[in-house]
Amino acid sequence: MANESNEQERTPYLTALIEYVKADPTPFDVPGHKLGGMENDLSRYVSKEVFAYDANAPIGLDNLYNAKGVLKEAQDLAAKACKADHCFFSVNGTTGGILTVILACLYDKDKIILPRNIHKSVVNALIVSGAIPIFVKPDIDEDLGVACGMKSEDVIAAMEENPTAKAVFVINPTYFGVVSDLKKIVKEAHKRNMIVICDEAHGSNFYFSDELPCSAMEAGADITAISMHKNSGSLTQTSLILMQGDRVEYAEVKRAFAMFSSTSPNPLLLASLDAARKEMALHGQELIHKNGSEYIDKRHNSGVYGIDETKLVIDTRGLGLYGYEVYRKIRELCNVQMELGEVSVVLACIGPGTSKKHIDNLIEGFKVLSNRYYQKDDRADIPQYKYSYPDNLVSPRVAYDAPHKVVFLKDSIGEISAETVMAYPPGIPLVIPGEIITDDAIKLIEFYNSEGGEVLKDTRQDQIKIIDRENWYLNEDLLQSYK
Ligand SMILES: Cc1ncc(COP(=O)(O)O)c(C=O)c1O
Repeated sequence: MANESNEQERTPYLTALIEYVKADPTPFDVPGHKLGGMENDLSRYVSKEVFAYDANAPIGLDNLYNAKGVLKEAQDLAAKACKADHCFFSVNGTTGGILTVILACLYDKDKIILPRNIHKSVVNALIVSGAIPIFVKPDIDEDLGVACGMKSEDVIAAMEENPTAKAVFVINPTYFGVVSDLKKIVKEAHKRNMIVICDEAHGSNFYFSDELPCSAMEAGADITAISMHKNSGSLTQTSLILMQGDRVEYAEVKRAFAMFSSTSPNPLLLASLDAARKEMALHGQELIHKNGSEYIDKRHNSGVYGIDETKLVIDTRGLGLYGYEVYRKIRELCNVQMELGEVSVVLACIGPGTSKKHIDNLIEGFKVLSNRYYQKDDRADIPQYKYSYPDNLVSPRVAYDAPHKVVFLKDSIGEISAETVMAYPPGIPLVIPGEIITDDAIKLIEFYNSEGGEVLKDTRQDQIKIIDRENWYLNEDLLQSYK
């Protein structure tokens, strides 16, 4: 990064946006608030100035979907900072990024090897593309109730069993900071002519620090989506799509990119990517590590090749409280907002904006909870997390297209799901379309429902959408081709 520092000081898009606003043009283009001329409660509160920069795509500010000017320059600088060949600015998060990269690489019935603890956006990408998932099932730490990383030997075994698979998908890192041996997976995949796609929703910080695990681009992966907003300081909703080499065609990514984003990308979001890239390229190392990592318990689990130390996974069982109770209570009592609460853990994400005071408040918050709830002899009984990955019978697309009916959860065991059910956060689906619904999955859904966890699904909380088998015509040949 150091020898590129002069170039990385530039912010072509942000600079052009500022110049545009300074020039004070008469706005007969959209948006209708006319650079903040029409006030409302929000503009009065956050300042009219913010709206002045909401300038859509006037002359001089380039077109995101055919970038040739300042956006091209800004994207090129981001690509350079991340050691990629090309970059696209996504204003639809890594959710949009994942849809883009999967639709760029895979068509109907192409096979993709991927971990089962994927984000919902990946399931949606499978539905839209028609790609067939070959799931690798990472171990689940039943103690903490979180999925571990994919073991490289399991991924290689899946490659051996599915030599026609077109792509391998790796999460780098998981929500809880676990990374697999990405370099090894890339080497093995490329040997077999398979593309490597990464989900780096939680890994943008890897690009700006030598002390964190290896980034997808450094590991040699072909394409990735990284949430700059989650841990590199840009505004919420902003991500980068990065690619390198020639296994994935640039033109295909450009095509897919335009499919999943608004034709009116928000300039504040785009400018925030430009500004955050500059800040992280120049000062990321120091911003990420200024608080040190002395608070981190480096407990290693199955499938853990490395760990992102900026994600603090805190076991709450010693307090006799569920993770999501701690999530609520620490906010209520100490005004500390955690990233998520699970059954047995809470997660704190340390970002480049985290200060020493924030860390002190977190520690203080746990002291308060400890004084109030820690009872050596009378600890609440936190049940062990029990979940077995369901088997998938048909691809998500086939299940999505099949005739459906809605039944009560208790009547759905053994049926084929036609919807995605996930606990939120972390948004890892308990059941996805095409999977056979298990007793474990239903118990977990009921558990989350009764304990106040948030379960996201298409149907009522006590129901689930399944394939209506009686009216489902799927002959044996078709079934085989989708397996
Ligand atoms: C593993 C994973 N992938 C993808 C996403 C989607 O990222 P974004 O929020 O940037 O759309 C998330 C969001 O939390 C995630 O946890």
